[in-house]
Amino acid sequence: MSTTLVTGGTLVNATGRSRADVLIDGEQIAAILPPGSQLLGTDLRHGVDRVIDATGRYVIPGGIDAHTHMELPFGGTNASDTFETGTRAAAWGGTTTIIDFAVQRTGERVQDGLAAWHDKAAGRCAIDYAFHQIVGGVDDEALSAMRGLVDEGVTSFKLFMAYPGVFHSDDAQILRAMQVAGETGLLTMMHAENGPVIDVLAQQLVEAGSTSPYFHGVARAWQAEEEATHRAIMLANLTGTPLYVVHVSAKQAVAQLAAARDGGQNVFGETCPQYLYLSLEEQLAATSEEWGDFEGAKWVCSTPLRARAEGHQDAMWQALRTNDLQMVSTDHCPFCMKDQKELGRGDFRAIPNGIGSVEHRVDLLYQGVVTGEITLERWVELISVTPARMFGLYGRKGVIAPGADADVVIYDPQGHTTIGAATHHMAMDHSAWEGFEVDGHVDTVISRGTVIVDGGAYLGRAGHGRYVPRGLTQYLV
Ligand code: URP
Ligand code: ZN
Ligand code: ZN
Ligand code: ZN
Repeated sequence: MSTTLVTGGTLVNATGRSRADVLIDGEQIAAILPPGSQLLGTDLRHGVDRVIDATGRYVIPGGIDAHTHMELPFGGTNASDTFETGTRAAAWGGTTTIIDFAVQRTGERVQDGLAAWHDKAAGRCAIDYAFHQIVGGVDDEALSAMRGLVDEGVTSFKLFMAYPGVFHSDDAQILRAMQVAGETGLLTMMHAENGPVIDVLAQQLVEAGSTSPYFHGVARAWQAEEEATHRAIMLANLTGTPLYVVHVSAKQAVAQLAAARDGGQNVFGETCPQYLYLSLEEQLAATSEEWGDFEGAKWVCSTPLRARAEGHQDAMWQALRTNDLQMVSTDHCPFCMKDQKELGRGDFRAIPNGIGSVEHRVDLLYQGVVTGEITLERWVELISVTPARMFGLYGRKGVIAPGADADVVIYDPQGHTTIGAATHHMAMDHSAWEGFEVDGHVDTVISRGTVIVDGGAYLGRAGHGRYVPRGLTQYLV
């Protein structure tokens, strides 16, 4: 067991900031000390194994990305980051915990899906990890198996109102799953898009010759997101259970969540960096010399990027300020252009859906601090505190306080980098953020007391990361 002292930095949490030093003993935070590390007349700097000078920098709890899909089989291929490459990239970007989605499909057992995800992750992760459960085939057996999830530390499950024939649940299935959520305390996470409607629109577009990635965004109309969000809220209301809507991108869906929250309903919303910064007009409609009008495939994800002219991006930032949206996760689901996104050349429906950003969430959200969209404290709340509370990790994660896991990031507000595929660490042949200029920089990352990123050096290892069983949600309206 070794001791580390982080001195001279500004400790930032959700409620304020202060000059303080952080003493780490083994894998946990031992104490928060006044600047200078004087305790009862003793200068602790001389008694520790390692001193890290954080002068001029922020000391924050490690990022928690509550929505990732490492190695997800999807669209006839697998998401290109393994747990090994994806968690290493996350570490580079200041994220010390991910919550990934184990998968069950129609005809499969929930227990087998979860076991398969444990097999994929065990011994490979650079940082700690936890799981949600995708239930893609709600039937009697799945409903019964869901009752065992809480004991496995899996306290949330995701249903899909989108993707008919793949993961889709109809209203009856959703209702029954929510009833199990009510019995067990599981949190229902919803992919809220009206899949059957989208599929008709998509087929009509393709039949009319509109096959490029741009039309993915056209087919997945905001009305399909608003309608599904409303329906999910009503089913949650009917069953008296909380609801967490994932990857919200339409301002109309935010309005549905806000109205339900104003009525006292426990509904929560997550957006993603792509919905804060990117758009239908700029990215999905992009062309390039290399890919022609297929360039937009880099940004094919669901829900889709939306029209900036309609004001969705500004609405997401506003909702993060008003707490109508509480969460920003990446929905990290990377696919290369070569051999993966390419599957959908000539038919946007066959482009594997997803964007890879697990490395950049902390930096991308910090740009909101730089531009004045959110405060420094709200930034810390969004990258770490709220994900911990929402998903039953708080106390152990999401806070720098005695007894918490020593997951600490030292963030340099003077740093400046340009994001790109040539320098990122994700297993992707392109970046959805190519050329994006970022102020601020992750300098040092400590995971359970071990320095895993130090300046430009990666010191982590596959297998350092452990499975973290989660408790029930600690977040209410
Ligand atoms: O495009 C996306 N979001 N891909 C990942 C699967 C999902 O729906 O979250
Ligand atoms: Zn989804
Ligand atoms: Zn997802
Ligand atoms: Zn730096």
